[in-house]
Amino acid sequence: MMDLTTKDFIVKPTNVQLKSGQVVWKTPSNIALVKYWGKDEPQLPKNPSISFTLKNCHTITRLVYRQRVDRSDKFSFEVIFEGVDNKTFKPKIQKFFERIVDHVPFIKDYHFTIYTENSFPHSSGIASSASGMSALSMCLMSIEKQLYPKINEAYFYQKASFLARLGSGSASRSIKGELVVWGKHKEIKGSSNLYAVPLLGEIAPIFKDYQDTILLVDKGEKQVSSSVGHDLMHHHDFATSRFQQAHKNCSKLQTILKTGAIHEFIELVESEALTLHAMMMTSKPYFILMKPNTLQIINKVWSYRKSENSNLCFTLDAGANVHLLYPKNEKASVHKFIDQELAIFCQNTHFIHDEVGNGAEKIESD
Ligand code: PMV
Repeated sequence: MMDLTTKDFIVKPTNVQLKSGQVVWKTPSNIALVKYWGKDEPQLPKNPSISFTLKNCHTITRLVYRQRVDRSDKFSFEVIFEGVDNKTFKPKIQKFFERIVDHVPFIKDYHFTIYTENSFPHSSGIASSASGMSALSMCLMSIEKQLYPKINEAYFYQKASFLARLGSGSASRSIKGELVVWGKHKEIKGSSNLYAVPLLGEIAPIFKDYQDTILLVDKGEKQVSSSVGHDLMHHHDFATSRFQQAHKNCSKLQTILKTGAIHEFIELVESEALTLHAMMMTSKPYFILMKPNTLQIINKVWSYRKSENSNLCFTLDAGANVHLLYPKNEKASVHKFIDQELAIFCQNTHFIHDEVGNGAEKIESD
């Protein structure tokens, strides 16, 4: 598949008319191994990132559409979150629609009721934007497919990722594939700043069913949002070297994933997590999203790894929660360690076991 440009995602007018219907998609969250931190308008990453797609943490969105008789320049939609009419999500979706309307102009022709729910508890500190924005994007692409039946599968998924990216950068990586790359990298064929693609090539068996347990250290609202954090990379003293480092780490990670070099994997992944937080701590103004219990867990992981000769490691997203990554053959022992020694550092001893998944799934349609 050739590289697509923004222009390729603009559709021509069509005579096909859809009166009403519904589409349903389930899409997962993802966890970055090489982190995206810093962007340009419109939501273009300053460096490439690579993530594991998750399985259990997901969003299911049912998009019910009805052709409008009163087509106007205003979008017409409502959001029903977990069964309840939710006004707080409306501004984010309004903004998303504004950003994508040139690429999916048909959204003005319909009134939408967006029924959406997450598998993980609301305010668990797990960002729902990746799974939420990707689910809505898949639904919109299903409508586009009905309006333009000739679009092929590759285009369908690339445009879904393109739309999701405009909703939330990391959402672009929640569409397709177990390991996903977003952002142009010279050694990764097909990689693009506009959309994410599955990381192709050989992957060692150990990484195919990797486990991720998310330790919910702090379920509260973050003190500094991701968008503010991304913005602070613009005049960051270490920005240039950080972006170069991320390029190098993507190259290294590709080799690691191929060869199954687990020690190198651990070192790279933990270093990426700490570098992300180091960027936050050295921004102007600086900020810290880790909590004391985040550090307690990290220290416990390090001693456990040493004493048990384990391959358990951690990564962090933009918050206090800790993602524990480990191979499937260590599942029983790591679960025991979590129950006995780490659960106490989680808010209400809450954690979620997850593992590598493979992306969006269509649930039902008309
Ligand atoms: O997609 P955003 O804007 O919420 O940014 C997420 C950034 C990190 O989670 C910290 C890293 C990443 O690559 O997912």
